[in-house]
Amino acid sequence: MINSLEKIPVSIFRSPMEGSIYAAQQIANLIRARQMEGRNCVLGLATGSTPISMYKELVRMHREEGLSFRNVITFNLDEYYPLERDAIQSYWSFMHNNLFDHVDIPASNIHLPNGEWTTDEMKRRCMEYESMMDAVGGIDLQILGIGNNGHIGFNEPGSSLHSRTRLITLDYSTRMANSREFQNISKVPRLAITMGIHTIMKAKRIILMAWGMKAPIVAKAVEESMTEHVPASLLQDHPDCRFVIDTLASTELTRIKSPWLAGEITWTPDMTKKAVVNMAIKTGKPILSLTNNDYNENGLGDLLVEKGDSYDINLEVFYSLRDSITGWPGGKPGNQLPNHPERSNIIPKRCLIFSPHPDDDIISMGGTFMRLNDHGHEVHVAYQTSGNIAVTDEFVTRFLDFAVGFEEMFGIDNARSEQILNDARSFLQHKKPSQSDTEAVRAIKGLIRRGEATATCRYVGLPEGRWHFQNLPFYETGTIVKNPMGEKDIELTMELLREIRPHQIFAAGDLADPHGTHKVCLDIVLESLKRIKEAGDEWIKDCWLWLYKGAWQEWDIAEIMMAVPMSPDQVLKKRHGIFIHQSQKDMVPFQGSDAREFWQRAEERNANTANLYGALGLTRYAAIEAFVRWDY
Ligand code: F6R
Repeated sequence: MINSLEKIPVSIFRSPMEGSIYAAQQIANLIRARQMEGRNCVLGLATGSTPISMYKELVRMHREEGLSFRNVITFNLDEYYPLERDAIQSYWSFMHNNLFDHVDIPASNIHLPNGEWTTDEMKRRCMEYESMMDAVGGIDLQILGIGNNGHIGFNEPGSSLHSRTRLITLDYSTRMANSREFQNISKVPRLAITMGIHTIMKAKRIILMAWGMKAPIVAKAVEESMTEHVPASLLQDHPDCRFVIDTLASTELTRIKSPWLAGEITWTPDMTKKAVVNMAIKTGKPILSLTNNDYNENGLGDLLVEKGDSYDINLEVFYSLRDSITGWPGGKPGNQLPNHPERSNIIPKRCLIFSPHPDDDIISMGGTFMRLNDHGHEVHVAYQTSGNIAVTDEFVTRFLDFAVGFEEMFGIDNARSEQILNDARSFLQHKKPSQSDTEAVRAIKGLIRRGEATATCRYVGLPEGRWHFQNLPFYETGTIVKNPMGEKDIELTMELLREIRPHQIFAAGDLADPHGTHKVCLDIVLESLKRIKEAGDEWIKDCWLWLYKGAWQEWDIAEIMMAVPMSPDQVLKKRHGIFIHQSQKDMVPFQGSDAREFWQRAEERNANTANLYGALGLTRYAAIEAFVRWDY
């Protein structure tokens, strides 16, 4: 649908993979067209998590379809400063690992700003970088990602439309978001060299890619006024720029979020709920107080015409929200309520909570976790990954010191143990920022998180044996970049499912973040369930899947199918459960752009959901955890 609200053309793809294939095809078409004309093809390239699948697809095209890069000249957008060129976090390394080392591009055709340039030569080098682009006829196709603050390249908010390649100071939020590439925020360089906005705007054609969690900034850049505070919005002035996004990154665009404002639509019950809830939030009125006038003034005149009167529509939506609230997440014994979110005919249930990291269970559904156990259900938790990468070196060193002290204190003389401890301590003392942990250090870090998860299960009151550490192999790369889901991951998960035969599964439903651990963990659960279903296991017919959101987001209120309220005391109990994860307190390495601690985020989010329900005219609880039932 072409939409007048969108000031930049946007193509929406079902998944990041499909969007990446489209972008790779655009690049390949251009390279081939130029080859036919005997000309070079000049590409502007980006790094970060967004373009990784696109580079994979280009490498595949090179290997399987003979796409040659002999006539390709590349200029990368940016590089951290200062940083050795071959550090694992450098964009030079990123580009070689993801593309250049796997295709036939001549080394002399590759250009990147260099994190080793001295400050004295910086101005001259930056000017030369621009001149080199001009000398080869300018960039034919520029690939961009987008930062959560709207940056393109590393042009942070406030960058001028006239800016060129230069040294800039990174925003704190950018350093936070990119801390996943480094050990922790303090190790992320404060500066970077980046092409300017003017440099980017000179490209003949631009494709900006964005997936998942970038939805809010995508909508801002595309629909709101152009401003240097949102650098990507300046692309509205480019004659040939297109945003390539996936379904999740499109959710804040008006045509998706409020399609009734962007054209004619079919009024399904879900759409009606979404529209009415949005209107109530916007007008600040409880649902049952909305009038015909409100419907007309908020672009819902069509709905009114179709359904008759606001009173009937209000009631329909109100009841649907009311029926989603339950303090009985495993079903209410003795009650056969047709509209209750869970079945009450099977009680007690066997429940299985999949927790991608060792703390997602308590952070994202701690209240429900405790409630299920208190109600006598047989609750199991499967910790899908070891989470070892998120334990800092300082933290593990403290544990090593403890172990050494313990041995000394009790005169334990075990050569093997002593060697492991000494090796680990000396490794950590001399570890370079670019170095990955040894297997032993990784294992010890994993053990620390395992201990925290076990303590949480005991705190909740689970009997021994109800927690399962899966240590899924896709995660165990020792680096931030994880493997894709593999057969072994699925095999281990199917085995556990068949052992427990749950009536109820809870899994982290973070459909966004295509390269994140949560998404892979969900894919593994979905694939395992699919295979078990295909194999015809009888128990799976009675097994429902509920999704919760990880630490970063919450479901849209209109999507929520089960809302589990918590009292102030339960909120406090959940907070203390989160505190048990001491290795994740204060400053965790891979936190994203949100500086708050997990307990704060969880509490604020649960309170917000409760307040929203209250504002819509339903009972106002202290906090609510929210779930969506997934039809697998
Ligand atoms: C990287 C770059 C940045 C990223 C942006 C998004 O070369 O120029 O603008 O595109 O920070 O990063 P990811 O893709 O990691 O979310």
